[in-house]
Amino acid sequence: MPNVKAIYPGTFDPLTNGHLDLIARGAKIVDHLVVAILRNADKGSPLFSVEERLEMIREAIEEQGFKNVSADTFDGLLVEYARSQGAQAVLRGLRAITDYEYEFPMAMMNRKLDPQLETLFMMPNEQYTYVSSRLIKGVFKLGGDVSELVPPMVVRRMRAKGGAKP
Ligand code: PNS
Repeated sequence: MPNVKAIYPGTFDPLTNGHLDLIARGAKIVDHLVVAILRNADKGSPLFSVEERLEMIREAIEEQGFKNVSADTFDGLLVEYARSQGAQAVLRGLRAITDYEYEFPMAMMNRKLDPQLETLFMMPNEQYTYVSSRLIKGVFKLGGDVSELVPPMVVRRMRAKGGAKP
């Protein structure tokens, strides 16, 4: 059996329980999973710096006891990064049909750029199908409780940043 390494790329601003659910699923089917934060994301101003996000992901990996998962950052093309890591696959989560519309062209573009690299899609637990980093940030800013949707350490760090109602 080949040794399969996959990259789970994303913005992770911040890491959610949906991401963690997907990491757990991915880690079960590949030999090594690298959670990779895109450095040059074109998504406006992030809540957390790339370094803070990396720290949180590493903490979560440690806490969850994932032995075959690591975290890293990358710049530029995902296919180049995957190649540099010797990865055969990219892991992405599919929550709803709208994700498919966003993911399909990216997966096809990545295949065009590197036909050897496969994209694997996995579905998170249904309790996370509506959870996104964008919604988490929006709800938190308005004082909503997101403590069941992100790891406790993320809530702590969001509180430390301020912005939420008491
Ligand atoms: O969590 P996100 O923001 O949905 O993740 C998007 C990500 C990081 C997977 C995507 O933007 C990406 O792979 N960017 C790297 C640039 C790249 O390779 N572009 C060509 C493929 S469309």
